[in-house]
Amino acid sequence: MDALDAIRTRQSIGKVKPDPVPRETIEKLLSAAVQAPNHYKVRPWRFVVLTGASREKLGDVLASSLKEQQPDFPPEAFDKERKKPLRAPVVIAVGVDQPLEAKVLQEENICATAAAVENLLIAAHAEGLGAKWRTGGPATDPKVKQFLGFAPDQHLIAFLYIGYPEFEPEPRERPSFEDRTVWMK
Ligand SMILES: Cc1cc2nc3c(=O)[nH]c(=O)nc-3n(C[C@H](O)[C@H](O)[C@H](O)COP(=O)(O)O)c2cc1C
Repeated sequence: MDALDAIRTRQSIGKVKPDPVPRETIEKLLSAAVQAPNHYKVRPWRFVVLTGASREKLGDVLASSLKEQQPDFPPEAFDKERKKPLRAPVVIAVGVDQPLEAKVLQEENICATAAAVENLLIAAHAEGLGAKWRTGGPATDPKVKQFLGFAPDQHLIAFLYIGYPEFEPEPRERPSFEDRTVWMK
């Protein structure tokens, strides 16, 4: 698959098989991620790869956090939250370093890390994997950040759910650029 085909045909895939993904394949995706442009070459991205039982531990953190925030929710809601990280055999949490020098901007570090995430998603698609970028409440939850080893002020911009697709999604109409583009001459 060439680069343009991979970009054009990638789409979020939420339903994946529980089959494990070989470590070499995950490393290939991470290697693609870190080729992203980044200002001052600060390589601001941080990846936490969760497989196996670590996803259950993340689920426990998600459920207990939700319980703290929404104690009146029914027990099923906490069970549902606990199971979320088990939706894929690989979950990669992606954090962003805070700048250490005045010239480095936080926004630019976030941009660079988002570019790395997109590289990773395209690489996953090219490798025949399905992937979905998720965030939601857990992405800003201090307890979730702590579990993942991120500082409270570090941005957690993605949980990437990755696995072999349960089924091939129907190709769908892709967004167009026309209504978002002005040409200046
Ligand atoms: C920053 C960011 C956060 C996202 N968070 C979620 C999320 O929490 N849940 C979800 O279902 N999709 C999430 N998505 C995926 C988008 O919904 C998805 O990319 C969009 O619907 C376009 O579909 P496509 O990826 O198939 O092109 C997120 C995407 C981005 C870029």
